[in-house]
Amino acid sequence: MSLTIENLKVALQKKEILHGISLYMEEGEFISLLGPSGCGKTTLLKSIAGLLKIGQGDILVHNTSVVEMPPEKRGMVIVFQDLRLFPHMTVERNIGFPMEIQKVPKDVRKERVKRLLEEVQLSGFENRRVKDMSGGQKQRVALARALAADPEILLLDEPFSGLDEHLRLEMGNLVKKLHQERNITTILVTHEKREALQMSDRIALMSGGQILQYDTPKNIFRKPASKEAAEYFGKANYVKGRVENHRFCSRLFEADTDLEDGDYEAMVRPLSVRLEKGGTDTILNITFMGEMAEVEIETPEGSVLSHMPSLRLEELELEQGGQARIIIEEKETAWFRREGGD
Ligand SMILES: Nc1ncnc2c1ncn2[C@@H]1O[C@H](COP(=O)(O)OP(=O)(O)OP(=O)(O)O)[C@@H](O)[C@H]1O
Ligand SMILES: [Mg+2]
Repeated sequence: MSLTIENLKVALQKKEILHGISLYMEEGEFISLLGPSGCGKTTLLKSIAGLLKIGQGDILVHNTSVVEMPPEKRGMVIVFQDLRLFPHMTVERNIGFPMEIQKVPKDVRKERVKRLLEEVQLSGFENRRVKDMSGGQKQRVALARALAADPEILLLDEPFSGLDEHLRLEMGNLVKKLHQERNITTILVTHEKREALQMSDRIALMSGGQILQYDTPKNIFRKPASKEAAEYFGKANYVKGRVENHRFCSRLFEADTDLEDGDYEAMVRPLSVRLEKGGTDTILNITFMGEMAEVEIETPEGSVLSHMPSLRLEELELEQGGQARIIIEEKETAWFRREGGD
C-alpha cells in the first residue's frame, strides 16, 4: 500500500514535536528515517501507526485517510526497539498472539507460526521461552510476530540496535529479504548511516521535527540539499570559488557546471581528495584508521581533509610536517551559494 503523509503536526504535552512533515511512499517501497536522537523519529512512527493523536495534517494509506481509524485497522505493525515480547511465554505463543486475538483457530495458528519461524530462520524454536534466547534471536521472534499480522505497512523503530555489527548486518539482510518477498511498504528508523544507505530506496533525513531532505541514498549522499545534510553523512570540505560562464574556479580546482554566475562553495568529500608527492601544501596531521588514513593538509584555502588508503600514503612516503600536492578527483559535487562574496 502507498503511504502519504501531509503536513503532519504532532504535539506532546503541549509542545509541538513534529512541525509539518510531508512524505510519500510508493507501495512496496523501503525507506529509512535517519536523524539525531530526539529529532522525532519515534514520534513520527507512532503517529503513523495511530498510537499518538495528531494535531494537524493527514495520513493516507492508498489514498484513504486513516487518521480516524484505530491502530489495529490501519494494516500496520510497529516493532519497537525494546521489542515488547512476553519473556516468560514460548516463542509460539508470542508469535501466535496477534492471531489469538483475531480468534484464528489453534491448528491454523500453529501452522502459520511454523512457517513464520522458517522465514526468520528459527525453525524448531516453538517451545523455547523468549527469556532464554539471545538478543538476535529475540529480534527474529519480534519480526515474526509483526509479520504474523500480515501487515501492508511495516514500521521498524531501531529493532537492531544493541546488536554487534555482524548480527546487525545479518538482521538487515533478513529484513531486506522479507521485504522483497512480501513487498511490504517498510519504514526503518535507524541511527546508522551505512544501514540506511545500504537498505533504503529513499532516506528521509530528519532534524528538529522536520525533514531536511528526502531522497535516494545516492542523491542524499552526493547532492545534499544543505550543509547540515552533508555533514550528517560524514566529513566534508567546502572549497570557496566563483562561477562565471558555467565554470567554477577556485584555488584548489576548476570544474564545469550549469550554475548561474556567482559565489559558491563546492562540497568535496575527503575521499575525493587525493594526495601526491611534491607540491607546497603542508601535512598537518595523519590519523591511521585501518585501511584508510585521514590526512589534514594546510592550503591557502584553509585546512583540507583527505581520506587515502593508508598503504598508499606510506608508498608515497607522505608524513606529518611534509609537503604534498592536492588533487581533487570528484568534480561533480554539491554546491552551496555563498552570500556576500568572500
Ligand atoms: N511522551 C512525551 N512527552 C513529551 N515529550 C516527549 C514525549 N516523548 C518524546 N518527547 C520528546 O519529543 C522529541 C522527539 O522524541 P522522539 O522519541 O520522537 O525522538 P527520536 O528521534 O525517536 O529519538 P531517539 O533516536 O533517541 O529514539 C524529544 O525532544 C523528546 O524529548
Ligand atoms: Mg526513537
